[in-house]
Amino acid sequence: MSEKILKFPDDFKWGAATASYQIEGAFREDGKGLSIWDVFSHIPGRIQEDDTGDVACDHYHRYREDVKNMKKIGLKAYRFSISWPRVIPEGRGKINEAGLDFYDRLVDELLKVDIEPFITLYHWDLPQTLQEKGGWKNRDTVGYFSDYAAVVSHRLGDRVHSWITHNEPWVVSFLGHAFGTHPPGIMDFSTALQVSHHLLLSHAGALEVLKNTGNDKTRVGITLNLSSAHPATDKEEDIKAAKIFDGFINRWFLDPIFKGSYPPDMLDYYKDNVPEILPGDMGVISRKVDFLGVNYYTRHIVKANPEEGILGISFLKPGEAEYTEMGWEVYPEGIYEVLKRVQDDYSPESIYITENGAAFQDRLDKEGKVEDKKRINYLKDHLCHIHKAIGEGVRLKGYFVWSLMDNFEWTYGYSRRFGLIYVDYPTQKRIFKESAIWYKKVIENNGISQ
Ligand code: FCB
Repeated sequence: MSEKILKFPDDFKWGAATASYQIEGAFREDGKGLSIWDVFSHIPGRIQEDDTGDVACDHYHRYREDVKNMKKIGLKAYRFSISWPRVIPEGRGKINEAGLDFYDRLVDELLKVDIEPFITLYHWDLPQTLQEKGGWKNRDTVGYFSDYAAVVSHRLGDRVHSWITHNEPWVVSFLGHAFGTHPPGIMDFSTALQVSHHLLLSHAGALEVLKNTGNDKTRVGITLNLSSAHPATDKEEDIKAAKIFDGFINRWFLDPIFKGSYPPDMLDYYKDNVPEILPGDMGVISRKVDFLGVNYYTRHIVKANPEEGILGISFLKPGEAEYTEMGWEVYPEGIYEVLKRVQDDYSPESIYITENGAAFQDRLDKEGKVEDKKRINYLKDHLCHIHKAIGEGVRLKGYFVWSLMDNFEWTYGYSRRFGLIYVDYPTQKRIFKESAIWYKKVIENNGISQ
């Protein structure tokens, strides 16, 4: 019996993603400065098991083997991030050539085997020295970020064409500055909103720099973590709660980038916490992006709950649903909902899924195999919904699995495994999970078999 294959467009970019702090290790080598994550992870009690990214996957030393593994899977594209303090140890001023050399070698290694690099400039590891000057709350950081973008672009821009300025500014703003679970560990809602504004400004600054220093192939975008917000009931208060949550997580970032204004209902809602916006800022922030990167993991079912925090909402978790190790509901329809919504309401020139994936309890069995059927199902079901969205005209150009390999999952340390490749941390051995072999087939077929 012949299998039915859901085919993707010919030039579809199949990829996988990682981030510097989560995989590189070598946290003090070859002149690298400290990042806020280096400092934060060393504070006892902040990270599960007090894990740190000091060594992580030791990718800094093992990148050649890692690129070989990418090639074995057949990846067309690889998304990674640059550690700002590895390149500019104090965030501004002196450049660390040895740090730039590392990324230079990595890019060449990728290009040698025809894997297209997608570089994220900021995946959360701000130089600690800049944090000491106020970090993202300080508007000066916006300018330092542009200077950093110029340094990286001068060195790599001849070979790297796809750039992502920021990864998930929502996380940086709110986990870092309102909830305090990420560095710098601040708990102040108005600071978080001011930070979000500066992140957006810095995105636009770097966008301009990258376009000016690059060539006609240069494409620049930003990655947002988007979710679909479902009201828990059809009661008016729950519908309103879902709209607020949508404003909080999605529209607060999408509207300024694509429409040049913050959502009016959220400005009303945030009242005195609204950030300081200088004349001209919104025009800058809405400079045209070449693509939007979307990270999708789950949906949210939202209920009005006036007692709960500044937003007055809480979330429902249906008992019958499946959950990942992160406690996130598996809801593949949500990726379709998000893609359609972005296309209909904002119409970006093109879209990439820059992250999608799941943490499950992976076990290395006696034969040395990792049978991660749940991850395969997760990826497959999401890809089916993506296929449907493309069929309905969504301009989706590629898909990156989070993650290429198991790594340091922020405050969860090494306890959550998202990789296609299993990492045995004590030996740093890499072992292909069943999902890696499955993904290889998907890429070979340019589609998923039903
Ligand atoms: C995203 C992050 C990524 C990874 C996944 C699970 O929010 O961008 O680094 O931690 O979640």
